[in-house]
Amino acid sequence: MDVSATTPNDKNPNGKKLGDVLLRVENISLSFGGVKALTDISFDIREHEVLAIIGPNGAGKSSMLNCINGFYHPQQGSITFRGQTRSRMKPHEAASQGIARTFQNIALFKGMSTLDNIMSGRMLKMKSGIIASAFYKGPAEREQIEHRAFCEKIIDFLEIEAIRKIPVGRLPYGLQKRVELGRALAAEPTLLLLDEPMAGMNLEEKQDMCRFILDVNDEFGTTICLIEHDMGVVMDISDRVVVLDYGRKIGDGAPEEIKHNQEVIDAYLGVQH
Ligand SMILES: Nc1ncnc2c1ncn2[C@@H]1O[C@H](COP(=O)(O)OP(=O)(O)OP(=O)(O)O)[C@@H](O)[C@H]1O
Ligand SMILES: [Mg+2]
Repeated sequence: MDVSATTPNDKNPNGKKLGDVLLRVENISLSFGGVKALTDISFDIREHEVLAIIGPNGAGKSSMLNCINGFYHPQQGSITFRGQTRSRMKPHEAASQGIARTFQNIALFKGMSTLDNIMSGRMLKMKSGIIASAFYKGPAEREQIEHRAFCEKIIDFLEIEAIRKIPVGRLPYGLQKRVELGRALAAEPTLLLLDEPMAGMNLEEKQDMCRFILDVNDEFGTTICLIEHDMGVVMDISDRVVVLDYGRKIGDGAPEEIKHNQEVIDAYLGVQH
């Protein structure tokens, strides 16, 4: 494994200090029957980085996140997270190792409140389990109180106090996206995967979401890998950009480099979408 290119603590063009490689994707290929979703993809995500994955519809972006968190099992290649290499992993194993995510199509419990949805993201951290904490006093109850307090902090952080008791199905789309971010944060992830966190949002909602993503990165030190179509957002908040097209990687570099990469311009940036 080549780690020479990843000297710890060197700085990216924004002057931000980056750490070691946190996640290494090596030669990943994934197909569904005759459809090649990913072909020989390799890239690194470094500690504290905000990495954007961009590319046209069907380029393989969501499939890539699904490989990283164990939803899809690539036919070839490997993924190394915090030094542990694997070719197959189940989503709950990825979660317990510190990988959390949000989905392109919001996946919340629509009838449950904001607080309960965020609590559901905390499950893996609970030793006693929900049944024990519902029926027994003592340690299980204390644990439940601590987890609830943690979730309330997330609610404060995301400025969603006013909707903490409201069933999420009744919330506007932009706020549902924010609750989904809250649920992912409840797991205290090392690596946070966000699949189009700003899709369908208006300008103000996008600005808010950008601020929250940068604050998570800054205040909690969480490494972030996000898929986003809004190039203004991508150029503003990411340290590095990986570009996919028809399942192949056609670009990997700082936002400024990517902006001037002719292959990327031809495949994606120069195209109306
Ligand atoms: N579960 C699946 N079964 C069959 N084909 C799939 C599956 N998931 C993805 N694909 C196919 O893999 C290719 C890549 O899809 P993917 O959803 O990863 O693209 P994407 O870059 O996220 O696109 P978009 O921007 O539209 O979200 C597409 O051709 C898609 O139809
Ligand atoms: Mg997608």
